Amino acid sequence: MSLYTDKVMDHFENPRNVGVIENADGIGEVGNPQCGDIMRMYLKIENDVLVDVKFKTFGCGSAIATSSMATELIKGKTIDEALELTNKAVVEALDGLPARKIHCSVLAEDAIKAAFVDYFTKTGREMPECLVGFEPHEDEH
Ligand code: FES
Repeated sequence: MSLYTDKVMDHFENPRNVGVIENADGIGEVGNPQCGDIMRMYLKIENDVLVDVKFKTFGCGSAIATSSMATELIKGKTIDEALELTNKAVVEALDGLPARKIHCSVLAEDAIKAAFVDYFTKTGREMPECLVGFEPHEDEH
């Protein structure tokens, strides 16, 4: 049996929302120093709604699958709803990931949070409490 669920394979082979948003309202880039994978998230926000989300991942298959699923889960949602997204929810939506690949989903959550930090900083809006002092995780492999 494959280590990876059908959903992981599907999002790896056909990732959704890959690309760059020109004039994005928020851009977040995070990397995992252990594996060297890098993820960049772009948010387009209108009236507090994420009208578009795109990502670029220079990383492993699980990083691609989790960023793809994460963008699907927050696209069309309000800022508040999107901020509630956890890597756990992304993993559940993919029907699971092998334990040693969980850190890849953390990269996806952190990239979204970093993009929101950029958005709130650029717009001068008050930073939501959950983002104050945000630092991307530095997970062990
Ligand atoms: Fe590092 Fe997947 S192996 S993000």
